[in-house]
Amino acid sequence: MLILGVDIGGSGIKGAVVDTETGELVSGRHRIQTPQPATPETVAAVLAELVLHFDWTGLVGCGFPAAIQHGVARTAANISASFIGAHIEKLFSDATKCPCYCLNDADAAGIAEMHFGEGAGQSGVVLLVTIGTGLGTVFFTDGKLLPNTELGHLFLKNGKKAEHYASGAVRDVEGLSWKRWGKRFNTYLNVMEKLFWPDLIILGGGASKKFEKFKKHITVEARVKPAVFLNQAGIVGAALYAKSRNSLTDIDKLILDSNEYR
Ligand code: BGC
Repeated sequence: MLILGVDIGGSGIKGAVVDTETGELVSGRHRIQTPQPATPETVAAVLAELVLHFDWTGLVGCGFPAAIQHGVARTAANISASFIGAHIEKLFSDATKCPCYCLNDADAAGIAEMHFGEGAGQSGVVLLVTIGTGLGTVFFTDGKLLPNTELGHLFLKNGKKAEHYASGAVRDVEGLSWKRWGKRFNTYLNVMEKLFWPDLIILGGGASKKFEKFKKHITVEARVKPAVFLNQAGIVGAALYAKSRNSLTDIDKLILDSNEYR
């Protein structure tokens, strides 16, 4: 089944058509700059532009950089605060005229990696960290997803929020070498290890492509691997998520709908 996978980030909105049976991208990847300010209206308009670029009329899966509960954005760190409380599934579906299913961007990347990538068949605790404008996290225990963990917002001993100290954007803005940034990121991973003891840590987002440049600064005991899908993991996982949401039976959908109104 072909689904348009979209990764909405703090700096770019990227999409590609994904073959959900294999996890392969069957189109080129198209990227549009995230509008500033990134409000519900401006982001929905760019998403509509992206859908038009692919001449797409089918299902759309969207990874989004916020906690998403039943289609509603609950947080907004690197996007406009006006997203908080917005039903982004309704908003994006209306703007694109396609059924859009939305989830947290790190959750999306994790789903791709657990399905087809580095985490396939991995039991125990897997942590995936996406390194981009923010730091996104997702956990799987024996392959089961714990959604919406927001552990890029953890405060470190130096009093700084992890994502204000060791994200990809911080590396760019402060012009940090891979060594200096790698040491900062290592501090974060060590805190995560002492709190959650993952068996495997997968790294996604932009910096995953440069793993060779900073891996020698990582000292955690867990195995650490770059995502097989590198920074495409979010696109692939969003498409897989849309597929699973769309294949729910009518009864499942009824139950989900009634949960929304609780
Ligand atoms: C957001 C998360 C997101 C991460 C990566 C953080 O600022 O709070 O929801 O997963 O950035 O985009």
